[in-house]
Amino acid sequence: MSSTTQSPHTSRQRGQTMYERYLRTDDLLALQKPSEERLHPDELTFQIVHQTFELWWKMTLEQLRLAMAELGGGGYGDAVRALRRAVSAQGVVAQAMRQLEFVAPTDFLVIRTGLGDGSGADSPGFRAILRAAPDLWDAFEGALAREKTTLVDLYASPQAHPALYDCAEQLTDFDETFHLFRAAHLKLAQRNLGLQATGTGGTPMEMLVRTLGDLLFPALWEARDQLLAQVQQQQGNAGVPGASGHGNS
Ligand code: HEM
Repeated sequence: MSSTTQSPHTSRQRGQTMYERYLRTDDLLALQKPSEERLHPDELTFQIVHQTFELWWKMTLEQLRLAMAELGGGGYGDAVRALRRAVSAQGVVAQAMRQLEFVAPTDFLVIRTGLGDGSGADSPGFRAILRAAPDLWDAFEGALAREKTTLVDLYASPQAHPALYDCAEQLTDFDETFHLFRAAHLKLAQRNLGLQATGTGGTPMEMLVRTLGDLLFPALWEARDQLLAQVQQQQGNAGVPGASGHGNS
């Protein structure tokens, strides 16, 4: 059959369909250990889940960089869209990580013997996101300065700069989803290794617990402290009951 009469879905070159060539499925599917080399059948899940993270974090980084550029150029709507995609990608990997809850701790301990000193702490995607966050924050602060507003004022009057407010909220969402990854990952690590273990990379579990206090954009959360204090002061001046800051909500 001549190539002109072939459907685009079945056209072959060197025995591969267009789909296979375009997506390089041969390469992709060779990126996991073949079954005869696996230490345990669930090593396939272990590798696929980690590789999934690296792919989606690669895309996340692209979106964060795009958002950074848009913030720098005043394209706040486009920055919001890029940030929204970055946030949504964290939901995809969060779901993927749950697959590892099907791996029994005793089976994970077998898989772990093949990791050497390999550790998730060396994840290129994770590290790149941590490195990008301060630059992204600088770009956002630049936008605040350009619009002649401050973070607390932005939160006090969202309608004064709606697009910038949306950016701030997407950055908050991103910080939150990143934190939720760390929290879910900690529980996954603990259900496999217990509370006292030291990781293959030499990090004690206790250190992972402490990272839960880390924030990508601490100023976003501090702004809420300031807003609360500001509002309580105004309400106190106006004689609103419960405005002293000692209540629970
Ligand atoms: C059975 C599943 C897993 C276990 C038991 C586990 C365990 C651990 C441990 C003990 C650490 C501390 C560092 C060290 O190794 O010494 C760590 C760090 C880390 N792991 Fe995992 N992990 C698992 C799955 C994953 C997955 C699916 C990812 C996704 C890429 C991941 C990413 C990370 C990252 C980014 C760190 C550094 C965390 C930080 O510095 O806040 N881990 N993991």
